[in-house]
Amino acid sequence: MSDKNVLIIGGNGFIGSNLSRHLADLGWKVTSFDIAEPPMPDSRVEYIMGDFFDDNVLASVIKSKDIIYHALSTVNPGNSNQKYMMGYSRDFLQTIKLFDMLKEQDAKLIFLSSGGTVYGVQEQQPISENASARPINHYGNVKLCIENTLRVFDIQAKSKMMIARISNPYGPGQDHNKGVGFIDAVIRKTLAGEPVEVWGDGEIIRDYIYIADVCKMLGNLALYEGEETVFNVSSATGTSQNEIIEIVKQIDSNVSCVYKPGRSVDVRKIILDNSKIMSVSPVELMDIKDGIRSVYNYLKG
Ligand SMILES: NC(=O)c1ccc[n+]([C@@H]2O[C@H](COP(=O)([O-])OP(=O)(O)OC[C@H]3O[C@@H](n4cnc5c(N)ncnc54)[C@H](O)[C@@H]3O)[C@@H](O)[C@H]2O)c1
Repeated sequence: MSDKNVLIIGGNGFIGSNLSRHLADLGWKVTSFDIAEPPMPDSRVEYIMGDFFDDNVLASVIKSKDIIYHALSTVNPGNSNQKYMMGYSRDFLQTIKLFDMLKEQDAKLIFLSSGGTVYGVQEQQPISENASARPINHYGNVKLCIENTLRVFDIQAKSKMMIARISNPYGPGQDHNKGVGFIDAVIRKTLAGEPVEVWGDGEIIRDYIYIADVCKMLGNLALYEGEETVFNVSSATGTSQNEIIEIVKQIDSNVSCVYKPGRSVDVRKIILDNSKIMSVSPVELMDIKDGIRSVYNYLKG
């Protein structure tokens, strides 16, 4: 596998930078393509600075790559109901151009989709990949539009195309100011002596997964040779925001919060079935209390 050439589009972001390090640890040849500087450069990773929306640059960086992770989005769940045209006119269209460029290339593309938003409101939990996806915000819908188009290209293209529906990752490198990351927000606010804002009653349940576990699962997908296209990347365990606050309180009693009105963009409960990805290659998942303690120590240090 060490002769494989991996490209991560958006490789200097939260997921991308953790993934580059994990894949470099495995001995893979990793290139990170991003418009921003790497937060903590890794000597084993090649960094290419450039704009995903520049067709010529994009065509040149994907050349001769065997595995390509698409880890970039210009909208997030919180702002997509205002900035949706950006999602459809930029992210969606440029990603379709990427699929088109990959038609004749013998590569594997792994698209980072959003397990937290594509499914929308679901009775049956944990949610399996077979559930009918009904997003309630434009971020999730842009992801779903890309997914549906990817499936059509997957049939026609030489490249194998796959979808990773990631639940709620947390860990070092996250920045809640980008619009997602409740655990990051609670810890950083606590360390700054500020209250954390909770949208709603704190009983919103999410499937939090430690970033290192996400990276292991994404790495395993690159090795997968079966016919499946879509995989949940998740812990399959639900935790409420109030429970997160309690866990942080056990570590630092200074935690405080203010409850604000709930947002229409937030589904109340999302827990994703991870049995399919676990059957590809099992990953021993970090316990959420240990994960939160590790992020707390990292941010404090
Ligand atoms: N973080 C989450 O909670 C989460 C959950 C599920 C899915 N995802 C998806 O995973 C992917 C990565 O998420 P993340 O949290 O790491 O995001 P992020 O914002 O931390 O990273 C995205 C990276 O893309 C880069 N980028 C933005 N515009 C660019 C451009 N025009 N050209 C080149 N690079 C550009 C940014 O500089 C950044 O480094 C996204 O597609 C996101 O939707 C994230």
